[in-house]
Amino acid sequence: MANCKQRGSALPPSTGLEGEGNCRLHFLPKYLSRQNNLLSIAGGALLLLLVFGQSLGAPRSFSVDYKSNCFRKDGEEFRYISGSIHYNRIPRVYWKDRLLKMYMAGLNAIQTYIPWNYHEESPGQYNFSGEKDVEYFLQLAQKIGLLVILRPGPYICAEWDMGGLPAWLLTKKDIVLRSSDPDYIAAADKWMGKLLPMIKPYLYQNGGPIITVQVENEYGSYFACDYNYLRHLSNLFRTQLGKEVVLFTTDGAGVGYLKCGSIQGLYATVDFGPGTNVSAAFDAQRHAEPHGPLVNSEFYTGWLDHWGSRHSTVSSAALVKSLNEILAMGANVNLYMFIGGTNFGYWNGANEPYGAQPTSYDYDAPLTEAGDLTEKYFAIQEVIKMYHKIPEGPIPPTTPKYAYGAVVMKKLQTVLDALEKLSFSGQVKSLYPLTFIELNQAFGYILYRTTLPVNCTTPTPLSSPLNGVHDRAYVLVDGMAVGILERNRAITVNVTGKAGSQVDILVENMGRINYGKGINDFKGLVSNLTLGKDTLTGWTMYSLNIDEAVKQGLLGDREATPADPPQPVAFSSPAFYSGSFIIPDGIPDLPQDTYIKLPKWKKGQVWINGFNIGRYWPARGPQVTLFVPAYILSTAAPNNVTVLELEEAPCNSEPCTVEFTATPILNATVHSDYKQSRRLFVKEDLL
Ligand SMILES: *[C@@H]1O[C@H](CO)[C@@H](O)[C@H](O)[C@H]1NC(C)=O
Ligand SMILES: *[C@@H]1O[C@H](CO)[C@@H](O)[C@H](O)[C@H]1NC(C)=O
Ligand SMILES: *[C@@H]1O[C@H](CO)[C@@H](O)[C@H](O)[C@H]1NC(C)=O
Ligand SMILES: *[C@@H]1O[C@H](CO)[C@@H](O)[C@H](O)[C@H]1NC(C)=O
Ligand SMILES: *[C@@H]1O[C@H](CO)[C@@H](O)[C@H](O)[C@H]1NC(C)=O
Ligand SMILES: *[C@@H]1O[C@H](CO)[C@@H](O)[C@H](O)[C@H]1NC(C)=O
Ligand SMILES: *[C@@H]1O[C@H](CO)[C@@H](O)[C@H](O)[C@H]1NC(C)=O
Repeated sequence: MANCKQRGSALPPSTGLEGEGNCRLHFLPKYLSRQNNLLSIAGGALLLLLVFGQSLGAPRSFSVDYKSNCFRKDGEEFRYISGSIHYNRIPRVYWKDRLLKMYMAGLNAIQTYIPWNYHEESPGQYNFSGEKDVEYFLQLAQKIGLLVILRPGPYICAEWDMGGLPAWLLTKKDIVLRSSDPDYIAAADKWMGKLLPMIKPYLYQNGGPIITVQVENEYGSYFACDYNYLRHLSNLFRTQLGKEVVLFTTDGAGVGYLKCGSIQGLYATVDFGPGTNVSAAFDAQRHAEPHGPLVNSEFYTGWLDHWGSRHSTVSSAALVKSLNEILAMGANVNLYMFIGGTNFGYWNGANEPYGAQPTSYDYDAPLTEAGDLTEKYFAIQEVIKMYHKIPEGPIPPTTPKYAYGAVVMKKLQTVLDALEKLSFSGQVKSLYPLTFIELNQAFGYILYRTTLPVNCTTPTPLSSPLNGVHDRAYVLVDGMAVGILERNRAITVNVTGKAGSQVDILVENMGRINYGKGINDFKGLVSNLTLGKDTLTGWTMYSLNIDEAVKQGLLGDREATPADPPQPVAFSSPAFYSGSFIIPDGIPDLPQDTYIKLPKWKKGQVWINGFNIGRYWPARGPQVTLFVPAYILSTAAPNNVTVLELEEAPCNSEPCTVEFTATPILNATVHSDYKQSRRLFVKEDLL
């Protein structure tokens, strides 16, 4: 970093501020120049220096100034221009690149959530290593010169499975999440008792980058409106983090939201998107906080997607117009998202009426899912430039993508063939069907098996009268695919067969609801199925650990005989497919990032070298390509692609392929007209 010194010294001196009761600020006073000089110093020495540097000057402080209506950092008026980045949606190898790009855009802070269910997948089993090393992420942000606005939940929404709450909370069937329910409180206390002491050293006043910490998230949009719960969390955070830390809440910019979302002792902030009447939105904040800094904690740069709904976009023009208005008012702002990233594996959430979010969380943000610079990025930078000095120097370039081309796939076993290998824990029998949680499985797929109790010589409706297929089920009779049941959409398939025929129902958890009162989202067959007028009973259930089977390479070739039974045209038995490709020689800088595309495939899950890339569903859209980060690819061995196709692979008559391309497609025409409740910037709760 040859130009660090230069850049640091190019900053204006930290003069006083103009304006009455307003925070019109210069870019990152003092702190930044110190940080910049430290950029070239190795990580270990950094902390020492910070502590040393601190002991030389005034103590580090960060607070709300109710007189001047602004934040105060080290005694000086301060305004943040921040961007959201979720470390859990970005490969660790790219954290630094993305943070640097954010810094170079002119941001002086970032905002991140901490998803509880990502770090405590089973009760008491914590994981903060590798991709989950949130402390390392905080250290990187600080090293780059970014402050941090931390949102540790316990509930985070975030279009993340169950809004970040661990599914194992549902082992108490009637638990009232996000309330004073003693079992919920006990679990949340235990988690926060682990997490908060870990982040305490990273608070600004303790030498770290964290300036503010959010308590809960948009609590005013939740039906419970339990002030005792908010008060409990407030006390807990205060006790764990100390009396100086600025704790805040965030709610929709309406007095109605703030009613149940804000309490004494937590600084109330709002969120709203482009096109909103900015002064009216801040009037709502003023209703709860007559004095103090104006803060938009989520200013939407784009918006979320759902399978089956059109890809959301927000124009740069609309965005920068509102951003300019916000900054002109001296308000603090966090751009949500600055980079969205990816819901790898099974981590996506869903909204009501049930609609799951896709694998990509691109969000039409200024940095794409893959971290690419966009026209929106530069448009934002231009606006920030009018208010704050922005850093000089090169912006890390967009990382190159490579089109590895088509990979021929061959069929492996079907899920039914491979059942023993997939079901590590064996079978569970029960008169009535059990849910995922009752079977001790959080994510993925479970196979439910029973038999036809009667002769069905004519098509007989097999139904879920209470809409209890959560979320999608692939129905087979004697190994023949006969149809699909889908939550809210298809509650009946017709079956024929003799009494005693085997009925297999592969149920997919497509992601738990993350917003509203439906977050107690049980998965699997959550109510009885009927055949004609009879309730189906006598179930055998197989928990499937497909990820482990893929990783261990357990899935075998399909046996040559017997031939597949003739299938009705629309479906085939859910099955695995595999193929491999080699990174070409002689091209510099390979492997590079790429996108996988599955033309003519329908719906399923894809792994590369055992890494779960996520769900694909081009048959519904709008997402067509899945982001494949280079770090999971190998130059030392062929790269293995494994696909679980749930409906029908295009492999019957011709050799079938998947394709690696250099260009993402997230906005294909959707094959559905399912209405979503969360329209652009609208967060109505279904009370
Ligand atoms: C913790 O999470 C990381 C993902 O970054 C994973 O590689 C590792 O296996 C996990 N550790 C345990 C003990 O599950
Ligand atoms: C925006 O809201 C303010 C009230 O805060 C109101 O005075 C103003 O007329 C509104 N502007 C527009 C364009 O609706
Ligand atoms: C089903 O039909 C067969 C004749 O095809 C008959 O033998 C059998 O008893 C029937 N079973 C039931 C349960 O009705
Ligand atoms: C099932 O069959 C009945 C009678 O043939 C038909 O009316 C109905 O539409 C079918 N239902 C489905 C879901 O295919
Ligand atoms: C299925 O029905 C039985 C009998 O009515 C009932 O006891 C049971 O709770 C139901 N199971 C589910 C999962 O709804
Ligand atoms: C792909 O699978 C083959 C065969 O199991 C194995 O030899 C190879 O190491 C795998 N490739 C990677 C990158 O793991
Ligand atoms: C998708 O986005 C690209 C790039 O912005 C655009 O060229 C294309 O027309 C869009 N396609 C659809 C179907 O909207």
